[in-house]
Amino acid sequence: MHRREFNLGLLGAAGATFFDPLSLRSQSELRVNGKRITDHLSALSEFGKNPQGGVSRVAYSEADRQGREYAMGLMREARLDVRLDTAGNIIGRRAGKDARRRPLMFGSHIDSVPEGGNYDGDVGSLSSIEVARTLAENNVTTRHPLEVIIFQNEEGGLYGSRAFSGELQEKELDIVSTSGKTIRDGIKFIGGDPARLAEARRKRGDIAAYLELHIEQGNILHSEKIDIGVVEGIVGIKWWDVDIEGFSNHAGTTPMNQRQDALLAGAKFIQAVNATATSVPGRQVGTVGRIRALPGAPNVIPGKVVLSLELRDLDADKIEMLYQKIRDEARQIAEASNTKFDFKEINVNTPAPTDERVRKLIFDSAKELMLTTKLMPSGAGHDAQDMARLGPVGMIFVPSIGGISHSPKEFSRPEDITNGANVLLHTVLKLDNAGWV
Ligand code: GLV
Ligand code: MN
Ligand code: MN
Repeated sequence: MHRREFNLGLLGAAGATFFDPLSLRSQSELRVNGKRITDHLSALSEFGKNPQGGVSRVAYSEADRQGREYAMGLMREARLDVRLDTAGNIIGRRAGKDARRRPLMFGSHIDSVPEGGNYDGDVGSLSSIEVARTLAENNVTTRHPLEVIIFQNEEGGLYGSRAFSGELQEKELDIVSTSGKTIRDGIKFIGGDPARLAEARRKRGDIAAYLELHIEQGNILHSEKIDIGVVEGIVGIKWWDVDIEGFSNHAGTTPMNQRQDALLAGAKFIQAVNATATSVPGRQVGTVGRIRALPGAPNVIPGKVVLSLELRDLDADKIEMLYQKIRDEARQIAEASNTKFDFKEINVNTPAPTDERVRKLIFDSAKELMLTTKLMPSGAGHDAQDMARLGPVGMIFVPSIGGISHSPKEFSRPEDITNGANVLLHTVLKLDNAGWV
């Protein structure tokens, strides 16, 4: 039987015309309040605000803690029962009709990269809260319990979701995050308990499904004037710290042919990464995004360089193939420059396809809302890729104007965000009624 929950409260503003208590409105007429999402995005952007626009709200910073407090307040307003898990993820729960059912989860993150924008993660997190609020205001009780989740430290390497899915390893807790705190101290700072991380962990089959709404962060939807992206898969991402050991010496007295210049070797390495990533067809990408030369003075030949290497692709084997090629290049550079390279793997996020059945429900929801769609891969990493280890996942993209992201210039239009939130709302409702969940 088709399940019908009737709206006896006010519909969200985007869908509200007249409220007629005599006409029974079905779930399909529910709409989120888009203005409220925009207002909440604007309020959240105050935490860690930068003069040039955007925010620096890196995980475990004071701004992150304040932003999290704000989001928890919104969850309470949405009548969610709010708690932190031991990893520091924020979970807002709404009971379903059937307590034995596994939770239907949806959410994102609110931490940012340094000098980031106001949309990456925030759109999905605040829209998820809005979806829960819309259901509460309209007295819709789902069969499944709902859990809105805001994962901690997505930008630093998907720490919250990897703790949740059980992939986070004890030794990673000593890694120093962008905030300057170790992951261990950071988790304590935001109210988690790193000694009891196992309690945050869920097993495969513990969730009914996970949905994530996110800005595209690329320029496909905007340039092709498409409303909604339906994600087919999320790239795998691997990070390494690369130490290059040379020899620090006097920059004035050491002849050019007697140097062991670690920074020069680093420069050649950066070129080799770019050349390797572009040496084969495909969408793979390779980046050196951080470099530190020591001791760091104009009159000293750099004796040590620490840089990052990042590789991404939808295929884990391809990442490995590229990595081996880069190692070969590094060996040759080391030999020619009399330096030593050392690679330390610091973060692994496995590629994940989304669930075909969930994709179909996203397509169906968008179609009913008269929105145009496109199936597309995600070149950015997302917490959804770890959630894919626990159950079926789906991702909804909305356009990023000009494809700009991880930048203060990041922007998504309010109407696109509202569309995305409505697709999220209706996909949640469809999943709740799907026989296979
Ligand atoms: C996350 O934003 C990533 O793709 O780095
Ligand atoms: Mn993100
Ligand atoms: Mn990001």
